[in-house]
Amino acid sequence: MNKFLRKDLASFTPYHSPIKPYEIKLDANESPFPHHDDFKKVMSDFCADNENITRYPDTDAIKLRNQIGKFYNIDAENVICGVGSDQVIDMIIRAFISPNDKVVMPTPSFSMYKLSTIVNHGRAVEVPLDSEYEYELDKFINTIKKVQPKLVFLCTPNNPTGCILERNDIIKVIENCNCPIVVDEAYAEYTGISVIDLVNKYDHLIVLRTFSKAFGLAGLRTGYAIACKDMIDTIYITKPPYNISTYSQRASMFVLEHYEFYMNQVTNLVEERERLAFELSKLSIVQKVYESGTNFVLVKVNQENIKKFLETKLILIREYPSTSNLASCIRITVGTKDENDKLLDTLKTI
Ligand SMILES: Cc1ncc(COP(=O)(O)O)c(C=O)c1O
Repeated sequence: MNKFLRKDLASFTPYHSPIKPYEIKLDANESPFPHHDDFKKVMSDFCADNENITRYPDTDAIKLRNQIGKFYNIDAENVICGVGSDQVIDMIIRAFISPNDKVVMPTPSFSMYKLSTIVNHGRAVEVPLDSEYEYELDKFINTIKKVQPKLVFLCTPNNPTGCILERNDIIKVIENCNCPIVVDEAYAEYTGISVIDLVNKYDHLIVLRTFSKAFGLAGLRTGYAIACKDMIDTIYITKPPYNISTYSQRASMFVLEHYEFYMNQVTNLVEERERLAFELSKLSIVQKVYESGTNFVLVKVNQENIKKFLETKLILIREYPSTSNLASCIRITVGTKDENDKLLDTLKTI
């Protein structure tokens, strides 16, 4: 390791995600569907205007924030955009966390909460889910009360387990928290459960959303947070200027303009998820398929090296180390019907 690296990062390895050859990609919870027919034309016309390319983007993404605001019946001032919700997570932590401050988060959950906390000198306090990978609400709330964190992350539906907290339970956590609390709703389109309508009721609530999943824009990296104006103004302090490219701003507006088209895809995907889960549960290599409110399923298997085997068939999935709290688990993103059938046929040959 480089001798100049900060000591507390010495055990970290950089995040790389090498693109392996594939025909079916079910490893990153992306949308498997094509974009709306008009997408290509609108975006190529947009690029044909030289000003959209040569000039810096609108650093405040005001048109996009206005549109998001209209959509949720809130003001643009209640919205802040980031290069994916990954960047918004980092902005939030940098806004609220001083060295050694505690950040409470579930585990297993989305890895960026912990990584960003540590990189920004905070201390991650992880609250384990139960043995069925469900939230233990009392334990989560008691931890918040006990450690008095400066920030809390709640991920629902949770990645990588797929488990859901009902709205009343989310509110219970919010009400038991006297620091900023981030409710990460990256997969909320798949459940319809949201607390966005409560951001002006609870001034410590920050809801996180992304265009990477249901709206198929993972490659363009737009995410956003919704909170009361004062909270958004605070997070703005750590927002890098010009963070969202002009192209990404326009594409994000396009998908909101065609909301129903993308929500139809969500409906199809949810149906396909249930079919895939049912078919997976019949396989001899499968011990358990966990219930999911997302576009993926977590599966406990009784066979090692399934990921490697599938890679030889050009199918990518996610696997977890045997030393982690997800030992023997694989995570499969729901693909198109055809992709899921090919995956199932391939798994049957094991
Ligand atoms: C729970 C959760 N939050 C946030 C993200 C980050 O999404 P993005 O940075 O693409 O908006 C992901 C991506 O997988 C996720 O699963």
